[in-house]
Amino acid sequence: MCGIVGYIGEQDAKDILIEGLKKLEYRGYDSAGIGLLNDDGVHVFKEKGRISALEAAIDRSVHATVGIGHTRWATHGEPNRENAHPHQSASGRFTLVHNGVIDNYEKLRNEYLAGVQLKSDTDTEVIVQMIEVFVKDGMAVEAAFRKTLSLLHGSYAIAMIDAENPDALFVGKNKSPLLVGVGAGFNVVASDAMAMLKVTDRFIELLDEEVVIVSRDHIRIMTLAGETVERAPFKAELDASDIEKGTYPHYMLKEIDEQPAVIRRLLSAYQDESGHIRLSDDVRQAVLASDRIYIIAAGTSYHAGLVGKQLLENIGKVPTEVHIASEFGYNMPLLSKNPLFIFISQSGETADSRAVLVQVKKLGFRTLTITNVPGSTLSREADHTLLLHAGPEIAVASTKAYTAQIAVLAMLAVEAARAKGIDPNIDLEKELSIAANAMQTLVDQKETMEALAKEYLAATRNCFFIGRAVDYYVALEAALKLKEISYIQAEGFAGGELKHGTIALIEEGTPVVAIATQFHVNGNIRSNVKEVTARGAKACIISMEGLNEEGDRLVLPEVHDALTPLVSVVPLQLFAYYAALHRGNDVDKPRNLAKSVTVE
Ligand code: M6R
Repeated sequence: MCGIVGYIGEQDAKDILIEGLKKLEYRGYDSAGIGLLNDDGVHVFKEKGRISALEAAIDRSVHATVGIGHTRWATHGEPNRENAHPHQSASGRFTLVHNGVIDNYEKLRNEYLAGVQLKSDTDTEVIVQMIEVFVKDGMAVEAAFRKTLSLLHGSYAIAMIDAENPDALFVGKNKSPLLVGVGAGFNVVASDAMAMLKVTDRFIELLDEEVVIVSRDHIRIMTLAGETVERAPFKAELDASDIEKGTYPHYMLKEIDEQPAVIRRLLSAYQDESGHIRLSDDVRQAVLASDRIYIIAAGTSYHAGLVGKQLLENIGKVPTEVHIASEFGYNMPLLSKNPLFIFISQSGETADSRAVLVQVKKLGFRTLTITNVPGSTLSREADHTLLLHAGPEIAVASTKAYTAQIAVLAMLAVEAARAKGIDPNIDLEKELSIAANAMQTLVDQKETMEALAKEYLAATRNCFFIGRAVDYYVALEAALKLKEISYIQAEGFAGGELKHGTIALIEEGTPVVAIATQFHVNGNIRSNVKEVTARGAKACIISMEGLNEEGDRLVLPEVHDALTPLVSVVPLQLFAYYAALHRGNDVDKPRNLAKSVTVE
């Protein structure tokens, strides 16, 4: 979703800002802009569409050492030039970028901006206009900035420049992520460390309702009430090369390929000296103390949660429910006495999940976040965190985070069993290594999946994925992957459910991909395939070694039946990738989607 960058130093700001915005492109956006401050005043350039359009619009002769930049994913007002950020106050003195959503902006507009003609449809413009109104009423800029932010209800990360003060960036945040990057003779602002890794690897985390005045050689953090806050910077554990594509044509392909290595990395991250998987005592204790686990997540992370439920119940013997984050808060089920809430989120920033986290914390329940991003909002705010160690995932379509989530959930399930003195009945250390090798075999078979994608998806408008038991959960994930990047209408179904309605959609040539990795339902899913082929479907069976039959289009290397999603999903990720590629789509940045969904 929206991204923010800011720079104050000695160098030309525009290239640093543009480079920073490019690193945030993966989050999804539909317009971009920068504001530069020099002796001639403030220069704003903004355009609808890609950053390349913005670059073309920038006057290269403008030299400035202070600036802010923004990528916007439209919420209030359509994606056009007028609604793109930065927004300026009526006189043009203040220029501001904002991520998040201001819930009470209409009320604020009516209350404070009666005489001001707004130029956009955004909630953001209200903020910058209010600051100017307060300054015109006689307030100092810093006080007006703090007062305005204290009146906002909702989420925000904000950076502002003042045409009359070339020595400061005004920054504030609540619920939306924002970091201040520390340099020598310069400082930067970014909604994601990745944006500014090229110029610094030292960042200061901001907490909600904090304001920062950033100058070239000083960073002053304070509360909204103006009380000073001291906080040391941390070193970002990211390498600039982690966020490059290298020789890959797309991040998604690189990230699919990284999956075996991620599973191996996770194994070493969570193994003790004797080679046994060992999570922290706190996490163990939290699971042990709970009578039911509630997994809260969205999208792909929700699908990993469904697999996690199976693992936690079958291996760990912990009753587990999985809920879609955006539904849970408004439709809360009857809860058990001692629940443990697990938030699964690649980004750790998903607003729907965070809303539930805030709600259940208020109810006094224990919380654990499983995320790929250390220091992310969900990680900071939960009682415990388990990291995915997957490295930055840049492609909007999540791949390596999904398999890492499943691996961590398997570890948690084994820990739950051990903590309760139950035999987990799986040598997880060994079985995860076997799964990693199997994943490697599959990523090395790209031509097979490319050929299948051509054969099944070249001329279709829809596609069905079916499975039973845990294969059904993988079918849901396969369908999501395919629809989000290829734009083919795709659905995942439980094999046995087709005949209760969906089979009506099957016609001559409809592609149906069946996943068959589970011994106890192998016969059933094959019967479902017969039902659809009898009605004209073009079936493609992906089975597991040992369960395979003649005519199956891909046979997966055998792995423990609790871990089959780790391998069965890999060819299906590739299937989606090649379908999107053949259709000429932007694989890494599919239309309408954002990587980090920071609005509810
Ligand atoms: O960062 P999160 O895991 O919380 O994100 C949740 C979903 O937005 C995400 O999984 C989304 O469905 C992906 N684009 C799927 O590929």
